[in-house]
Amino acid sequence: MNANQKIYESKIVVHSYSGLKKLFPAEKIIFNLIATKQNKRSILDLGIGAGRTTLFFAPLFETYIGVDFSAGMIESCRNRYRSISNAQFIVADVTTLPKLSINRFDFVLFSFNGIDCLQSIEERVALLTEIHSLLEPGGIFAFSSHNTLALKRLYSFQWPRRNPLKIFSEYVRRRKVSRINGPESNYIGKKFFQVYDGGEDFKVHNSYILPSHQLTLLKESGFQRVEAIDIKGKIIPIDKIDSCNDNWIHYLCYKL
Ligand SMILES: C[S@@+](CC[C@H](N)C(=O)[O-])C[C@H]1O[C@@H](n2cnc3c(N)ncnc32)[C@H](O)[C@@H]1O
Repeated sequence: MNANQKIYESKIVVHSYSGLKKLFPAEKIIFNLIATKQNKRSILDLGIGAGRTTLFFAPLFETYIGVDFSAGMIESCRNRYRSISNAQFIVADVTTLPKLSINRFDFVLFSFNGIDCLQSIEERVALLTEIHSLLEPGGIFAFSSHNTLALKRLYSFQWPRRNPLKIFSEYVRRRKVSRINGPESNYIGKKFFQVYDGGEDFKVHNSYILPSHQLTLLKESGFQRVEAIDIKGKIIPIDKIDSCNDNWIHYLCYKL
Protein backbone atom coordinates (compact mmCIF):
# COMPACT_ATOMS: atom_id res chain seq x y z
CA MET A 1 0.00 0.00 0.00
CA ASN A 2 1.22 3.53 -0.85
CA ALA A 3 2.08 5.10 2.54
CA ASN A 4 0.13 8.24 1.64
CA GLN A 5 -3.09 6.27 1.22
CA LYS A 6 -3.50 5.84 4.98
CA ILE A 7 -3.31 9.61 5.47
CA TYR A 8 -6.06 10.27 2.93
CA GLU A 9 -8.27 7.64 4.61
CA SER A 10 -8.17 9.59 7.87
CA LYS A 11 -11.54 11.11 8.87
CA ILE A 12 -9.94 14.45 9.75
CA VAL A 13 -8.28 14.75 6.33
CA VAL A 14 -11.49 13.71 4.49
CA HIS A 15 -13.41 16.28 6.53
CA SER A 16 -10.92 19.06 5.74
CA TYR A 17 -11.09 18.29 1.99
CA SER A 18 -14.89 18.24 2.05
CA GLY A 19 -14.73 21.90 3.10
CA LEU A 20 -12.86 22.93 -0.08
CA LYS A 21 -15.25 24.47 -2.57
CA LYS A 22 -13.30 26.80 -4.87
CA LEU A 23 -11.09 26.45 -7.92
CA PHE A 24 -7.55 27.86 -7.73
CA PRO A 25 -6.65 30.74 -10.12
CA ALA A 26 -4.81 28.40 -12.55
CA GLU A 27 -7.73 25.95 -12.43
CA LYS A 28 -10.11 28.76 -13.40
CA ILE A 29 -8.07 29.24 -16.58
CA ILE A 30 -8.25 25.48 -17.23
CA PHE A 31 -11.99 25.44 -16.52
CA ASN A 32 -12.62 28.28 -19.02
CA LEU A 33 -10.59 26.45 -21.66
CA ILE A 34 -12.42 23.15 -21.13
CA ALA A 35 -15.83 24.89 -21.09
CA THR A 36 -15.21 26.11 -24.65
CA LYS A 37 -13.88 22.73 -25.85
CA GLN A 38 -15.98 21.13 -28.56
CA ASN A 39 -16.09 17.50 -27.40
CA LYS A 40 -17.26 17.12 -23.85
CA ARG A 41 -18.61 13.60 -23.62
CA SER A 42 -16.56 12.21 -20.75
CA ILE A 43 -14.20 13.30 -18.01
CA LEU A 44 -11.99 11.22 -15.70
CA ASP A 45 -11.14 13.03 -12.45
CA LEU A 46 -8.21 11.20 -10.80
CA GLY A 47 -7.43 11.56 -7.09
CA ILE A 48 -10.75 13.36 -6.80
CA GLY A 49 -10.52 13.77 -3.01
CA ALA A 50 -13.81 15.00 -1.56
CA GLY A 51 -14.95 16.30 -4.94
CA ARG A 52 -13.79 19.93 -4.94
CA THR A 53 -13.55 19.87 -8.75
CA THR A 54 -16.75 17.82 -9.33
CA LEU A 55 -19.02 20.79 -8.72
CA PHE A 56 -17.43 22.68 -11.61
CA PHE A 57 -16.50 20.01 -14.13
CA ALA A 58 -19.35 17.44 -13.89
CA PRO A 59 -21.97 19.82 -15.37
CA LEU A 60 -19.76 20.37 -18.45
CA PHE A 61 -19.71 16.68 -19.46
CA GLU A 62 -22.22 13.95 -20.32
CA THR A 63 -20.36 11.44 -18.15
CA TYR A 64 -18.17 12.14 -15.13
CA ILE A 65 -16.01 9.49 -13.43
CA GLY A 66 -14.16 10.32 -10.22
CA VAL A 67 -11.48 7.97 -8.85
CA ASP A 68 -9.64 7.93 -5.54
CA PHE A 69 -7.85 5.23 -3.53
CA SER A 70 -9.34 6.60 -0.34
CA ALA A 71 -12.69 4.91 0.35
CA GLY A 72 -13.45 7.75 2.80
CA MET A 73 -13.00 10.41 0.09
CA ILE A 74 -15.22 8.46 -2.34
CA GLU A 75 -17.92 7.99 0.30
CA SER A 76 -17.83 11.73 0.94
CA CYS A 77 -18.29 12.39 -2.82
CA ARG A 78 -21.18 9.93 -3.04
CA ASN A 79 -22.96 11.64 -0.14
CA ARG A 80 -22.25 15.12 -1.41
CA TYR A 81 -23.25 14.56 -5.04
CA ARG A 82 -26.26 12.23 -4.81
CA SER A 83 -28.20 14.60 -7.06
CA ILE A 84 -25.64 14.63 -9.90
CA SER A 85 -26.96 11.83 -12.08
CA ASN A 86 -24.10 11.74 -14.64
CA ALA A 87 -21.42 11.15 -11.98
CA GLN A 88 -19.84 7.85 -10.87
CA PHE A 89 -17.34 7.61 -8.02
CA ILE A 90 -14.94 4.67 -7.91
CA VAL A 91 -12.47 3.50 -5.27
CA ALA A 92 -9.29 2.61 -7.18
CA ASP A 93 -5.56 3.22 -7.25
CA VAL A 94 -4.58 5.24 -10.32
CA THR A 95 -1.53 3.03 -10.79
CA THR A 96 -3.82 0.07 -11.52
CA LEU A 97 -6.78 1.74 -13.19
CA PRO A 98 -9.62 -0.76 -13.57
CA LYS A 99 -11.40 -1.28 -16.87
CA LEU A 100 -13.70 1.71 -16.70
CA SER A 101 -17.15 1.47 -18.27
CA ILE A 102 -16.11 4.18 -20.70
CA ASN A 103 -12.50 3.76 -21.72
CA ARG A 104 -12.00 6.96 -23.71
CA PHE A 105 -12.07 10.43 -22.23
CA ASP A 106 -12.12 13.94 -23.63
CA PHE A 107 -10.58 15.34 -20.48
CA VAL A 108 -8.53 13.81 -17.65
CA LEU A 109 -7.76 15.81 -14.51
CA PHE A 110 -5.40 15.08 -11.60
CA SER A 111 -5.71 18.25 -9.52
CA PHE A 112 -3.95 19.74 -6.47
CA ASN A 113 -0.69 17.80 -6.89
CA GLY A 114 -2.32 14.39 -6.36
CA ILE A 115 0.20 12.92 -8.83
CA ASP A 116 2.94 13.76 -6.32
CA CYS A 117 1.71 10.92 -4.11
CA LEU A 118 3.42 8.59 -6.62
CA GLN A 119 6.90 7.97 -5.32
CA SER A 120 8.90 6.94 -8.39
CA ILE A 121 9.59 8.29 -11.86
CA GLU A 122 8.65 4.86 -13.28
CA GLU A 123 5.16 5.05 -11.74
CA ARG A 124 4.76 8.63 -12.98
CA VAL A 125 5.75 7.76 -16.55
CA ALA A 126 3.54 4.64 -16.54
CA LEU A 127 0.56 6.75 -15.40
CA LEU A 128 1.21 9.52 -17.95
CA THR A 129 1.42 6.90 -20.71
CA GLU A 130 -1.81 5.26 -19.53
CA ILE A 131 -3.59 8.63 -19.43
CA HIS A 132 -2.37 9.40 -22.95
CA SER A 133 -3.88 6.12 -24.17
CA LEU A 134 -7.16 6.77 -22.31
CA LEU A 135 -7.66 10.13 -24.04
CA GLU A 136 -9.58 10.61 -27.26
CA PRO A 137 -7.54 12.32 -30.01
CA GLY A 138 -7.89 16.04 -29.27
CA GLY A 139 -8.30 15.21 -25.57
CA ILE A 140 -6.62 17.16 -22.78
CA PHE A 141 -4.93 16.12 -19.54
CA ALA A 142 -4.48 18.74 -16.81
CA PHE A 143 -2.56 18.28 -13.59
CA SER A 144 -0.34 20.13 -11.16
CA SER A 145 2.91 19.04 -9.57
CA HIS A 146 5.35 20.37 -6.96
CA ASN A 147 8.38 22.21 -8.27
CA THR A 148 11.96 21.30 -7.19
CA LEU A 149 12.84 24.98 -7.77
CA ALA A 150 10.72 25.91 -4.74
CA LEU A 151 13.18 24.06 -2.46
CA LYS A 152 14.80 27.26 -1.15
CA ARG A 153 11.43 28.65 -0.09
CA LEU A 154 10.54 25.37 1.62
CA TYR A 155 13.70 25.50 3.74
CA SER A 156 13.74 29.23 4.49
CA PHE A 157 11.77 31.36 6.91
CA GLN A 158 8.78 32.94 5.17
CA TRP A 159 7.65 36.15 6.85
CA PRO A 160 3.89 35.88 7.40
CA ARG A 161 2.52 38.68 5.24
CA ARG A 162 -0.84 39.22 6.87
CA ASN A 163 -0.75 37.82 10.37
CA PRO A 164 2.37 38.57 12.50
CA LEU A 165 1.07 36.07 15.09
CA LYS A 166 2.07 33.33 12.64
CA ILE A 167 5.78 34.10 13.11
CA PHE A 168 6.09 31.40 15.75
CA SER A 169 4.31 28.71 13.69
CA GLU A 170 6.47 29.62 10.68
CA TYR A 171 9.58 29.21 12.84
CA VAL A 172 8.34 25.75 13.93
CA ARG A 173 7.54 24.81 10.30
CA ARG A 174 11.00 25.69 9.07
CA ARG A 175 12.67 23.74 11.89
CA LYS A 176 10.46 20.71 11.19
CA VAL A 177 11.28 20.71 7.46
CA SER A 178 15.01 20.30 8.25
CA ARG A 179 14.51 17.90 11.14
CA ILE A 180 12.31 15.50 9.15
CA ASN A 181 13.96 15.72 5.72
CA GLY A 182 17.60 16.42 6.60
CA PRO A 183 19.54 19.37 5.17
CA GLU A 184 18.56 21.26 2.02
CA SER A 185 21.85 20.20 0.44
CA ASN A 186 20.46 16.61 0.17
CA TYR A 187 18.13 17.83 -2.58
CA ILE A 188 19.86 20.74 -4.36
CA GLY A 189 20.32 20.08 -8.09
CA LYS A 190 18.08 16.98 -8.13
CA LYS A 191 15.44 16.68 -10.86
CA PHE A 192 13.10 14.55 -8.76
CA PHE A 193 12.89 13.98 -5.02
CA GLN A 194 10.45 13.31 -2.19
CA VAL A 195 10.00 15.37 0.98
CA TYR A 196 7.60 15.88 3.84
CA ASP A 197 6.76 19.51 3.06
CA GLY A 198 4.09 20.15 5.68
CA GLY A 199 1.20 18.75 3.62
CA GLU A 200 -1.37 17.08 5.91
CA ASP A 201 0.67 18.09 8.96
CA PHE A 202 3.95 16.64 7.61
CA LYS A 203 2.42 13.21 7.03
CA VAL A 204 2.24 13.17 3.21
CA HIS A 205 5.45 12.30 1.38
CA ASN A 206 5.31 14.48 -1.74
CA SER A 207 7.31 14.16 -4.93
CA TYR A 208 8.84 17.30 -6.43
CA ILE A 209 9.96 17.52 -10.05
CA LEU A 210 12.06 19.96 -12.08
CA PRO A 211 9.58 21.52 -14.56
CA SER A 212 11.77 20.91 -17.65
CA HIS A 213 12.19 17.27 -16.56
CA GLN A 214 8.40 17.00 -16.27
CA LEU A 215 8.15 18.26 -19.86
CA THR A 216 10.62 15.57 -20.99
CA LEU A 217 8.56 12.85 -19.29
CA LEU A 218 5.37 14.16 -20.89
CA LYS A 219 7.01 13.99 -24.32
CA GLU A 220 8.19 10.42 -23.63
CA SER A 221 4.62 9.52 -22.63
CA GLY A 222 3.20 10.78 -25.92
CA PHE A 223 2.22 14.38 -25.12
CA GLN A 224 3.87 16.47 -27.82
CA ARG A 225 2.13 19.74 -26.95
CA VAL A 226 2.16 21.05 -23.39
CA GLU A 227 1.34 24.43 -21.82
CA ALA A 228 2.22 25.51 -18.30
CA ILE A 229 0.46 27.87 -15.90
CA ASP A 230 1.84 29.40 -12.70
CA ILE A 231 0.04 29.53 -9.36
CA LYS A 232 -1.49 32.94 -10.07
CA GLY A 233 -2.91 31.73 -13.39
CA LYS A 234 -0.31 33.25 -15.74
CA ILE A 235 0.98 31.27 -18.74
CA ILE A 236 4.67 30.32 -18.36
CA PRO A 237 6.58 30.40 -21.69
CA ILE A 238 7.42 26.74 -22.18
CA ASP A 239 11.06 27.40 -23.17
CA LYS A 240 11.53 29.33 -19.90
CA ILE A 241 9.69 26.92 -17.65
CA ASP A 242 12.64 26.53 -15.25
CA SER A 243 12.51 30.26 -14.52
CA CYS A 244 9.35 29.69 -12.47
CA ASN A 245 9.98 28.84 -8.82
CA ASP A 246 6.32 28.67 -7.72
CA ASN A 247 5.57 25.90 -5.24
CA TRP A 248 3.75 24.03 -7.96
CA ILE A 249 2.97 24.32 -11.65
CA HIS A 250 -0.10 23.39 -13.67
CA TYR A 251 0.46 21.48 -16.90
CA LEU A 252 -2.03 21.29 -19.78
CA CYS A 253 -1.20 18.36 -22.04
CA TYR A 254 -2.77 17.81 -25.44
CA LYS A 255 -3.23 14.49 -27.20
CA LEU A 256 -2.89 15.40 -30.88
C1 LIG B 1 -4.04 16.63 -2.49
S1 LIG B 1 -5.45 15.64 -2.62
C2 LIG B 1 -6.37 16.47 -3.88
C3 LIG B 1 -7.85 16.15 -3.87
C4 LIG B 1 -8.67 16.78 -4.98
N1 LIG B 1 -8.21 16.40 -6.30
C5 LIG B 1 -8.67 18.30 -4.88
O1 LIG B 1 -8.13 18.95 -5.77
O2 LIG B 1 -9.23 18.81 -3.90
C6 LIG B 1 -4.81 14.23 -3.48
C7 LIG B 1 -5.83 13.13 -3.66
O3 LIG B 1 -5.28 12.16 -4.53
C8 LIG B 1 -5.59 10.88 -4.03
N2 LIG B 1 -4.56 9.95 -4.52
C9 LIG B 1 -3.22 10.06 -4.37
N3 LIG B 1 -2.59 9.03 -4.95
C10 LIG B 1 -3.55 8.25 -5.48
C11 LIG B 1 -3.53 7.01 -6.18
N4 LIG B 1 -2.37 6.37 -6.44
N5 LIG B 1 -4.70 6.49 -6.59
C12 LIG B 1 -5.87 7.11 -6.32
N6 LIG B 1 -5.97 8.28 -5.64
C13 LIG B 1 -4.82 8.83 -5.23
C14 LIG B 1 -5.58 11.04 -2.51
O4 LIG B 1 -6.33 10.04 -1.85
C15 LIG B 1 -6.20 12.43 -2.37
O5 LIG B 1 -7.60 12.37 -2.23
